[in-house]
Amino acid sequence: MPLRPEELREILDRAHPIAREAGSLVLEGWRRAPTIRSKAKSDLVTEYDTRCERFLREALARVFPSHGVVGEEAEGPQQRDRELVWYVDPIDGTTNFAHGHPFFCIAMGLVAREGEHETPVVGVVIAPGLGTTWSAARGLGAYRDSAHGREHLTVSSTTSLEDALLATGFPASRRTNADNNYARFLGLDSLTHGVRRCGAAAMEICLVADGAYDAFWDIGLKAWDVAAGSVIVAEAGGRVSNMDGTALDLHAGRFVASNAALHGHVLEAIASAPSLPPGVA
Ligand code: IPD
Ligand code: CA
Ligand code: CA
Repeated sequence: MPLRPEELREILDRAHPIAREAGSLVLEGWRRAPTIRSKAKSDLVTEYDTRCERFLREALARVFPSHGVVGEEAEGPQQRDRELVWYVDPIDGTTNFAHGHPFFCIAMGLVAREGEHETPVVGVVIAPGLGTTWSAARGLGAYRDSAHGREHLTVSSTTSLEDALLATGFPASRRTNADNNYARFLGLDSLTHGVRRCGAAAMEICLVADGAYDAFWDIGLKAWDVAAGSVIVAEAGGRVSNMDGTALDLHAGRFVASNAALHGHVLEAIASAPSLPPGVA
């Protein structure tokens, strides 16, 4: 049964304080040389990733006992089979966080599951280093809260790639796997005002909702990177899909978000750009 608007509103209202507390927890470690444990040279985990996920799991289980939680650091059971599941990234942009860069966030996306079909219905993304929170619930609009107050979000009105600012990312495996998005980055950079790479996918998707970026794409993303941002972009009037244009599969990992008007052009440019660097077969 789809959630009614008043139920979605209540979930969103109860999720905000959890996000704020998670933001404060993570902020304690920012620029204070947090302990780093590396999964690989380009895939860092800090003590705050694990602490924050434990906090999110405990808080979400207390406030929403019937909902499941799936978290990047797997600090508890991955409850994928519940009807409503929070996909959480306790720190998205861990490399930035570990280096004292302000582009990191906590992402919480609630997904409604009917059989195999999954729909993101609530999203909260908080960037405590920037004092900014993006949030949305299906049918209720998307908002940014910051020192400037609360603002309703609308995607940009850019209609041509030539006038567009895009963003992308590169997977942790980029140094060992030739399918690393570098060639696509160069291809789209030459067609647009530029392609940014800020290292925090969940937040960069929100910047599409915010109208700062006209589109974002990335490969190798996980459901906790895209669930929250997907509903925020959709509620701001944008569009999300898999990179081949098919309906978003949260687990496909090849993700595009746009202001809707540019979606077809971005998909086409991605499809025409070389997927591998020159000289790699
Ligand atoms: C990473 C960031 C990055 C993206 C990677 C993600 P993490 O998340 O979102 O921008 O390109 O694919 O894994 O590891 O900082 O949570
Ligand atoms: Ca992430
Ligand atoms: Ca993470």
